[in-house]
Amino acid sequence: MAEAATGASSPRKRLGILISGRGSNMASLVEAAAAPDCPYTVVLVASDKPEAAGLAWAAEHGVPTFAQSPKGMPKAEYEAKIDAALRAAGVEAIALAGYMRLLSDDFVARWRGRIVNIHPSLLPKYKGLDTHARAIEAGDAEAGASVHLVTEELDGGHVLGQARVPILAGDTADSLAARVLAEEHKLYPKTLAAWLRS
Ligand code: GAR
Repeated sequence: MAEAATGASSPRKRLGILISGRGSNMASLVEAAAAPDCPYTVVLVASDKPEAAGLAWAAEHGVPTFAQSPKGMPKAEYEAKIDAALRAAGVEAIALAGYMRLLSDDFVARWRGRIVNIHPSLLPKYKGLDTHARAIEAGDAEAGASVHLVTEELDGGHVLGQARVPILAGDTADSLAARVLAEEHKLYPKTLAAWLRS
C-alpha cells in the first residue's frame, strides 16, 4: 500500500545463477535484467566447470563469477564452497541454468523455496537426461521446456511455467533442442520475474 502511494518500487532480488556449460539461458536472464522493471539483479554466476563458456560470457558482461570444480573433494565440501560464494554475494534466490549436477538434499533444504530450474521437457514427462530423444522416440506431437521449483526430487518440484514446441516430421534431438532452446530463452526470464513478483 505504502509503495503504491509513493510510487516506490521493491528492491530487486539478488539472483545467483548456477551453470555448467554454454550458459545461453543464463545470458537470457542477465540480458532481461537490463529492463528497468525487472525484479532481479544477477549478482553472481557460479559454475562447477571452470572452463564453462558461460563464465567467460558473464565476466565479459560485468557479472561477478565463481568457479569451483568438485573434483577431488567430498560433495559436501564442494557444495559448501558454492554455498559460501552465494552467501558472500548476498544471493537471495538461485536459478539453475544448465547446471548439470544434482544438488544434495542438504543444499536444497538450506535454500528451500528459493531455487528454480529450467528443464527441457514438458514436466512431469521426461525427467532427467535425453529429453528430446525420448519425446521423439515416444512419438509425441510436442515437446517443450518447464521452469520449476527445485526440491529433493529430481525435476519434481512445482511447475511455474512451460513453453510448448511442436515436434516436426524429420526432427532429430538436435533440431528439436534448438527450437526448444529458443523458447527457453523467453520462458525463463518471464517465469522467473513472475515468480519473484508473486
Ligand atoms: C538447456 O536446454 C537446459 O534446459 C538444459 O540444458 C541446456 C543448457 O543450455 N538443462 C538441463 O538439461 C537440466 N537438467 P545453456 O547452458 O545454453 O543454458
